Amino acid sequence: MHRSFPEGFLWGGAIAANQCEGGWNKGGKGISVSDVARFKDPETMKDLNDVHSFCDITDEEIRQALDCIDDNQYPKRHGIDFYNRYKEDIALLAGMGFKVFRLSIAWSRIYPNGDDAIPNEEGLQFYDAVFDECLKYGIEPLVTMSHYEPPLQFCMKYNGWYDRRSIEFFTRYVNTITKRYAKKVKYWLTFNEIDSILRHPFMTGGLIESRFAPDKFEEVEYQAMHHQFVASALATKICHENIPDSMVGCMLTKRTIYPYSCRPVDILKTQQEMRSIFAFSDTQVRGEYPAYLLSMYKNKGFDLKIEPEDIEVMKMYPVDFVSFSYYSSTCAASDITNLETGLENTARGVLNPHLNRNDWGWAIDPIGLRVSMVDLYDRYCKPLFIVENGLGARDIVEPDGSIHDDYRIDYFKAHFKSMYDAMTEDGVELLGYTSWAPIDLISNSTNQMSKRYGFVYVDLDDKGNGTYKRIRKDSYDWYKEVISTNGASI
Ligand code: BG6
Repeated sequence: MHRSFPEGFLWGGAIAANQCEGGWNKGGKGISVSDVARFKDPETMKDLNDVHSFCDITDEEIRQALDCIDDNQYPKRHGIDFYNRYKEDIALLAGMGFKVFRLSIAWSRIYPNGDDAIPNEEGLQFYDAVFDECLKYGIEPLVTMSHYEPPLQFCMKYNGWYDRRSIEFFTRYVNTITKRYAKKVKYWLTFNEIDSILRHPFMTGGLIESRFAPDKFEEVEYQAMHHQFVASALATKICHENIPDSMVGCMLTKRTIYPYSCRPVDILKTQQEMRSIFAFSDTQVRGEYPAYLLSMYKNKGFDLKIEPEDIEVMKMYPVDFVSFSYYSSTCAASDITNLETGLENTARGVLNPHLNRNDWGWAIDPIGLRVSMVDLYDRYCKPLFIVENGLGARDIVEPDGSIHDDYRIDYFKAHFKSMYDAMTEDGVELLGYTSWAPIDLISNSTNQMSKRYGFVYVDLDDKGNGTYKRIRKDSYDWYKEVISTNGASI
């Protein structure tokens, strides 16, 4: 490719507080749901889904976690120690020429219990320092307000987002951070992968499943989701009031699902599954529930508490742009009896026989990125931002300390080409791209350190052994050149 990306294209990378900061009980921070996510050794699991330790946590397991002083059993407690090493890390990102750095604020660092009346000044100062460090290098921060870190107390005491008071607590937090960082942060995302509340209700919604009647839990999830939609609309309003030139986006897990065959029943099944993804962005972009979601509520007999002012708020404050994560794709079929299924991010689908998969079974599908971009842009006609995309792999450190991750370079190269085609041939408007994750960090789904995404390696293993030393992989210089040539080197 010898043509550049549009001028001003925001190249960068993305991380989340809960997976990298550590310092889980430092600086006045409260405990968050991620701090009780236990590492389970994948080697002993029959299915990788079982290592998703956050899916089925009980009050008893939370108590055990709180009693446990071995932080290595709960790897997100130490992360990669970004809390103490952020200067070194941001310098490394600046070394690649980053234009943008997506990171999240840990809600529990600002409001330790979620419902506190006064914010924690030490937490606010920490992010002041982090943003100043970014701005020093001309890196624009892109901030997620909530990325899998609801304060634990908020979940224990209020049942998380199921309680309507969650809206008040969250908007108090949003008002605090948007006022405080008004001069430092222009780009904001409300909830990371808002749709994930249906896949990991504890991490996203602070819901402890065992507290509810099994046949009512789905309704509970949708009620909590409704509160998040209202809170997201109010967060957009508050952000615009406090920072007039701010841009606020929704963030969707852009799962891409192909029909397994051209049998009409498979096409129908695929359309239904895709709707379960679009339901979230349809609501946040158009400001109202799509008819198919309302039908589903009715058909399932849900009795959701939706106030008239909620409908008004959702309509008045839709998002400015659409951001999404894209990792892989799967297929859908009306009858899966004889078909092999596997994971795509935290969702399960029919495996596509035409695609290779990474070590965790996620299919590698660069064309699916172009398909996703066209799907979203044609549907909403709003600017897009790819805020997560990358390859989880096991890297090997050679005796001389080098790390040859050509597989990662190949992955990015193919995805960047697809991205370029979507922009130049399909007319998609794309604001920028942040890879997941520019520096190795703890995996969200498996709590492993060995599932590495970075251009920068962190010397730490799954058991917490290591020096935390940062090492540049081959992909580091490669991405640096991509950025400095604005994509022409690909
Ligand atoms: C996204 C999440 O779904 O996928 C990130 O927003 C996560 O938090 C990323 O880390 C990759 O998933 P995993 O499970 O490999 O860490």
